Amino acid sequence: TILILDFGSQYSHLITRRCREHNVYAELLPCTAKIADLHFKPKGIILSGSPYSVYDEGSPHVDPAVFDLGVPISEMAWQLKGKVGKSDHREYGFAQLQINKIHEGDSPVDALFQDLGEEMQVWMSHGDQLSEMPPDFHIIAHTSTAPYAAVAHNSKPLYGIQFHPEVTHSLRGREVIGRFVLNICGCRATWTMEEFIGKEIARIREICGPIGRVIGAVSGGVDSTVAAKLMHEAIGDRFHAIMVDNGVLRLNEAQQVNEMLNENLGVNLTVVDASDLFLSRLKDVEDPEQKRKIIGNTFINVFEEEAAKIEAAADGEDKQTSSAQGKGKVEWLLQGTLYPDVIESISFKGPSATIKTHHNVGGLLKDMKLKLIEPLRELFKDEVRVLGRLLSIPAPLVQRHPFPGPGLAIRILGPVTREQVEILQKADHIYIEEIRKAGLYDHISQAFAVLLPVKAVGVMGDARTYEQVIALRAVQSEDFMTADWYIFPAEVLRRISSRITNEVNGINRVTYDISSKPPATVEWL
Ligand code: XMP
Repeated sequence: TILILDFGSQYSHLITRRCREHNVYAELLPCTAKIADLHFKPKGIILSGSPYSVYDEGSPHVDPAVFDLGVPISEMAWQLKGKVGKSDHREYGFAQLQINKIHEGDSPVDALFQDLGEEMQVWMSHGDQLSEMPPDFHIIAHTSTAPYAAVAHNSKPLYGIQFHPEVTHSLRGREVIGRFVLNICGCRATWTMEEFIGKEIARIREICGPIGRVIGAVSGGVDSTVAAKLMHEAIGDRFHAIMVDNGVLRLNEAQQVNEMLNENLGVNLTVVDASDLFLSRLKDVEDPEQKRKIIGNTFINVFEEEAAKIEAAADGEDKQTSSAQGKGKVEWLLQGTLYPDVIESISFKGPSATIKTHHNVGGLLKDMKLKLIEPLRELFKDEVRVLGRLLSIPAPLVQRHPFPGPGLAIRILGPVTREQVEILQKADHIYIEEIRKAGLYDHISQAFAVLLPVKAVGVMGDARTYEQVIALRAVQSEDFMTADWYIFPAEVLRRISSRITNEVNGINRVTYDISSKPPATVEWL
């Protein structure tokens, strides 16, 4: 295991992911973590950068015991005892890293840059910079403005680096991280999803025992589908999935999820059509946060009602069979929580560290007294996708773009009605179908249509039309914290626009959203 200590850098989770990409398990903890409290002994430690200047009052400092562990440490924050100066200018952006030749003979460069050439493009982002060497360190790389861009201890495996190897702008950063975790820390590349499946299934069986039952919500998204399939592999029909049709799903979604999960993958599934209830509660609501709240609360009501029915049926079965009463009850609630959610709840939020607890469907737990089971809580999204493929979930589903819980309700600006939902479903379906036909789906992180309830003038045949507008959105993003709009070939946009205006009644105009995040967000609401 590699331990990443988070000093509040926006890149901490990326560092963790990059280590995992080398099949080395990495875990992220806040910088305030005490070494004595760890439940594992790390083979190496990476200290993330920090948005706080070491000169800021109350800026975070690491447990000194970290340096007594004797394992390799790489610092992206300068905790070393060198002199850190406020540099004249903030260095931000690309830089050319020159790798220093240190020894003559067999090992001309430091192990961190072994076989990576003499220079590489890196991404810099820092205010403070080292202005004097810490004692017993030497320079292993520099840039034209940062004489100490990377330093190493003369005898211990301690490194300080001032660029960000974890971002894709650092072209060989992935390899630098590989040199650290594999060569310097000596980790073995054993963290694979093949191994994970076996271990996780055994863990689920142990938790649930021979007759315990689990329920869980599925949405048609990657996470809940993979979690459901994993539960099914572990305990078969003692896992019961519930899909709530909230009336703001994509076209034919409920039916497709049923076919895929129940008919193809054999998961025990109930689909509940609650669209009337959701749409009646959403009537005349325009405020996006209000829409989110209504959908969240209604979901809990419907889910609880279904869960109670499943529980009653399970009780009935118990009484018929000779098993002891009360056994085989629904005791567990499956959640598709991923590692970024866990990180979000534990990561370092500033000198006055506040710990935020994260609940996807917190309300469910309080009332239902169910215990949580979260088989994906150690995994990043790309790991979940690999897991999905290994569990024989069809590729188009595993590669699916994310879809928000409040669904099309936050893509219809203005009130949500069944008519508006149908218009948006049709337009969105055409859009995604054409993206797939053009072979572009997997190049885009998220694409969807938005219905703008403004009326614009158009002409059809000899007649004037006065109809609504569809906005198309497509973004590329690594983690959805930032996103860039996608550049389509013009003919693809032309075909999409022509099909939407011809095939969807009520739409006479299509626009393409060219806003990045920030300052815009991915969704319109
Ligand atoms: P924004 O719009 O915040 O979106 O840039 C970033 C990512 O989050 C998704 N998103 C949501 N997902 N419930 C969800 O489950 C929500 O209320 C919600 N709002 C945004 C969005 O689709 C994108 O992937």
